[in-house]
Amino acid sequence: MTQDIRILMCAPDHYDVDYVINPWMEGNIHKSSQERAVEQWEKLYHIIKEYAIVDLVTPQKGVPDMVFTANAGLVLGDNVVLSRFYHPERQGEEPFFKQWFEENGFNVYELPKDLPFEGAGDALFDREGRWLWAGYGFRSELDSHPYLAKWLDTEVLSLRLIDNRFYHLDTCFCPLTDGYLLYYPSAFDSYSNGLIEMRVPEEKRIIVEEADAVNFACNTVNINDVVIMNKITPDLEQRITEKGFKVIQTPLTEFLKAGGAAKCLTLRVTEPILDDVHANVTVTSRVIKMEGHLLDSGLMNRALDVVVKEGGSFKVINFDLGVERQSPSTAEVRISAPSVQVMEDIISLLIDLGAVSTPEKESDANLETVIKAGVSPDDFYVTTIYPTEVRINGYWERVTKQRMDGAIVIEEHQEGVTATCKLLRDLEVGEKVVVGVDGIRTVRSPKSREQRNQPQEFSFMSGGVSSERRVELLVEQIAWEMRHIRDQGGKVAVVAGPVVIHTGGSEHLSRLIRNGYVQCLLGGNAIAVHDMEQSMMGTSLGVDMRKGIPVRGGHRHHLKVINAVRRAGSIAEAVNQGLITKGIMYECVKNNIPFCLAGSIRDDGPLPDTYMDLIKAQEEYSRLLKGTDMILMLSSMLHSIGVGNMTPAGVKMVCVDINPAVVTKLSDRGSVESVGIVTDVGLFLSLLLQQLDKLTSRYELAIS
Ligand code: ARG
Repeated sequence: MTQDIRILMCAPDHYDVDYVINPWMEGNIHKSSQERAVEQWEKLYHIIKEYAIVDLVTPQKGVPDMVFTANAGLVLGDNVVLSRFYHPERQGEEPFFKQWFEENGFNVYELPKDLPFEGAGDALFDREGRWLWAGYGFRSELDSHPYLAKWLDTEVLSLRLIDNRFYHLDTCFCPLTDGYLLYYPSAFDSYSNGLIEMRVPEEKRIIVEEADAVNFACNTVNINDVVIMNKITPDLEQRITEKGFKVIQTPLTEFLKAGGAAKCLTLRVTEPILDDVHANVTVTSRVIKMEGHLLDSGLMNRALDVVVKEGGSFKVINFDLGVERQSPSTAEVRISAPSVQVMEDIISLLIDLGAVSTPEKESDANLETVIKAGVSPDDFYVTTIYPTEVRINGYWERVTKQRMDGAIVIEEHQEGVTATCKLLRDLEVGEKVVVGVDGIRTVRSPKSREQRNQPQEFSFMSGGVSSERRVELLVEQIAWEMRHIRDQGGKVAVVAGPVVIHTGGSEHLSRLIRNGYVQCLLGGNAIAVHDMEQSMMGTSLGVDMRKGIPVRGGHRHHLKVINAVRRAGSIAEAVNQGLITKGIMYECVKNNIPFCLAGSIRDDGPLPDTYMDLIKAQEEYSRLLKGTDMILMLSSMLHSIGVGNMTPAGVKMVCVDINPAVVTKLSDRGSVESVGIVTDVGLFLSLLLQQLDKLTSRYELAIS
């Protein structure tokens, strides 16, 4: 017997499944046999007694889970951090455990009232004593970890649990002697798995498969080279034995019904202190501020979801609810994250939602210098479509040329400071780029419930994708808006794929252009080729557009068209020479509507007008898009995404595609101004023209 190891247990006199606080307890209320539980517990007790001294705490009526002494607290040396149970059902155990610790000479630390932490169920020392692994996500709060580090003077590594079957760290993770680790990786998020892999070399990791994990194989008591657990598979047994451990299996099925097994039934109260290990914790926190119609708009929900989804936790420290319908709310939320990196990821997502991060005191943005042309310093702030401001020398500067996926370049001139969005490839040596997340905010115009619901507003249509039923209504709205833009001398850009031609939309789009509803056209090689094929030969990709059937030899048509246009020198020249007499490209040329065709690897030809240099094409797209009020995206995923990235928030977007996935992807700009329509694009265009005609006749009636 190893005399210096002591383990605390609690006899199952009052054990039963009386309530449900984890998935294992579901359907098991009063289903465990008292007799068998006692027998199984006794067996475990006798096994452990061979290797350690077992201390007992008196079981108490009314707290059936008290058998799980792992949750009493977390001990290191003479110090113990007492548990604060998450569920009221177990909070009654706290005073009994506290009393036992005090009577046995421990120094008891107690966490703040509303900060749950479930002891050694959620915090496990590396068996070499080098650090403490601490779990969070279900029962223990991330914010308890800094206390553990401080009070126990140890390094804390936070691991996030993501599978509710493995709600305590000790249900899926067990550090073993000699730096080995028995664990079930799928119970953790990817950041945590990365951390585990960084600290535990591959040859020391014993991976538990799901079949064993659900039998609580990781819930193991490890004393030197002995491991004691519920039944496991021969395969796992062999893998553990190979590492030099003696495996002892003992049935604990009655306790599995409450969601616990061997390790949960024990608490090691002798944990040796290493002199050279000291407090260290990577958990960081920050306060963010949000303002606006936080509840109305669902912004508050979304922000808190982001925090949790990304592996952080939060505490709302201030919430000032706007009482009137039109008054905005403000909130201050303290965010905690397991590391600076996770924190930065969370904060940048919150910035996208319009939150402002306020470190201790407001600070300027951090800048770093570009040392290689076309390459940004790491950790640069990646821009979004939202209007952004950067704090420089104490002042908030508005970023110009806002677009998605760029970096922010700061220039200080005599006349002042400028902040500009730039693509990575355009960065020049010596330029200063914003890094990190300090001193950055995005500006959202707070819309009240009324504003957002005004029927004549375009935003009325917001709220994502619509199919069939709402299409007509939406088209009516779009027609109204396009008419309005045209009357005001505004600008509509059309991004179109060849499907527009295949679905018979060519004549409609041609009419839109002819009638002044389109101010620029963006697409690829194909739309122009098939449009001109149709006007020259009546087919689109060899299919007769009137009869809808393939024409013999039709597959060569488009190449003949390309050849003819190449001979002419350009599309405009082909129109001027009378080769092309109708269609979309014809109307563009005739009405002086600028267009840009961006090439791709699959292009035949290409047409002389097609930009095969994609950087040039992107630049031309972006030039043509300047000042656009509305963009119609017609069945072209790639060109539309490209356009979406170049376009700042505030530009209305209509995405039409028969494939809902494309529409969802494109219309999900998290902004009110984009709308998705799932329908045949030819049909959409024909409806749109009908609506525009209606508006015109109404208008003519009104003035006549
Ligand atoms: N029914 C108990 C609970 O849900 C089981 C505790 C298991 N203990 C453990 N250390 N995993 O809290």
